[in-house]
Amino acid sequence: MPHDLTDFITGMPKAELHVHIEGCLEPRMLLQFAERNGVDLPYQDEDEVLAAQDYGEPALDNFLKYHENCLRVLKTGQDFYELAYAYFRKCAENNVVYLEIMFETQAHVSRGLVFSEFFGAINQARKEARRDFKVEANWIMSFQRDHSAESSMEILDMAVPFKDEIIAVGLDNYEVNNFALKFVEVFRRAREEGYRLTSHCDCNQQNSIEHIRQCLELLQVERIDHGLHVIDSPELTTIVRERQIPLTMCPTWRPSDPAPRRMESIRKMLELGLLVSVNSDDPEEFASRYMNNIFIEMHKQGSYTKDEIVRLTRNAFSSAWISEDSRSHYLEELEKYAAA
Ligand code: HPA
Ligand code: ZN
Repeated sequence: MPHDLTDFITGMPKAELHVHIEGCLEPRMLLQFAERNGVDLPYQDEDEVLAAQDYGEPALDNFLKYHENCLRVLKTGQDFYELAYAYFRKCAENNVVYLEIMFETQAHVSRGLVFSEFFGAINQARKEARRDFKVEANWIMSFQRDHSAESSMEILDMAVPFKDEIIAVGLDNYEVNNFALKFVEVFRRAREEGYRLTSHCDCNQQNSIEHIRQCLELLQVERIDHGLHVIDSPELTTIVRERQIPLTMCPTWRPSDPAPRRMESIRKMLELGLLVSVNSDDPEEFASRYMNNIFIEMHKQGSYTKDEIVRLTRNAFSSAWISEDSRSHYLEELEKYAAA
């Protein structure tokens, strides 16, 4: 029986770089917001919500349909504020001290919500979390790949007054073919405006390797969200290693399949010297739940050692879009903790 790492993992200072704020909506809040906003949901109670999280295949599409249906309950600034503040409390409970969090844009604006209202609300929660929980966070503004490039340009206009509060832009949602080509101008403008750049390249999608290549070459992304298939291509592996492009893997899936997946692939990424981290993605919609649980399950079910878990955490801090002073501070805290 290997040494149990639960206490070590729980106390370890952690970072999370791939999480969607909308995926942090607890079933309890989902039902409560639906009720107060008069939104019809096909679920009567929390058990029915959890039963609906049995996505099946095609995985990404089925998940996104569920996710989009739930999003509809988010209407007012108060909803977004409560969602984000509750999530930051969870981060503090998990000793997650630094985060980069994605928020969706077209998904809300296309429903008639006002950018300054929903972004203002989550950003207020971010500031309060720093004060109340000592949790630091930065925002990644996600464009939904199934929406048009023009609508992404409009979102960039809406975000101008908040530019200093948003660290990066990203792409998520359905992995439509040649999506990188579609967003070249959007990413060129975002880069000129000073945003850092990332994109999802999801697992087991059509043309995965080509999409990673296009994101690197056409969009000049500095990070890839997921990026599992990098290791299927020796050429991409070399590029990603040489440029130290972070890969933000998310090892869990639907709650009915709770074991973390791709344990050997993530181990291989570490062995290849790739800057891989592990993350929750959508903690209330996936089996990930929160960061402590992910590492505990990786230890118990994937035999991940203390060294490997510290290494994944070191990679997360090394991947973060923060000043070198902050990075040194976080890494020193981690090394001190790991050595004690
Ligand atoms: N992939 C694509 N879109 C998403 C995801 C994801 O993992 N989570 C929320 N939106
Ligand atoms: Zn994601």
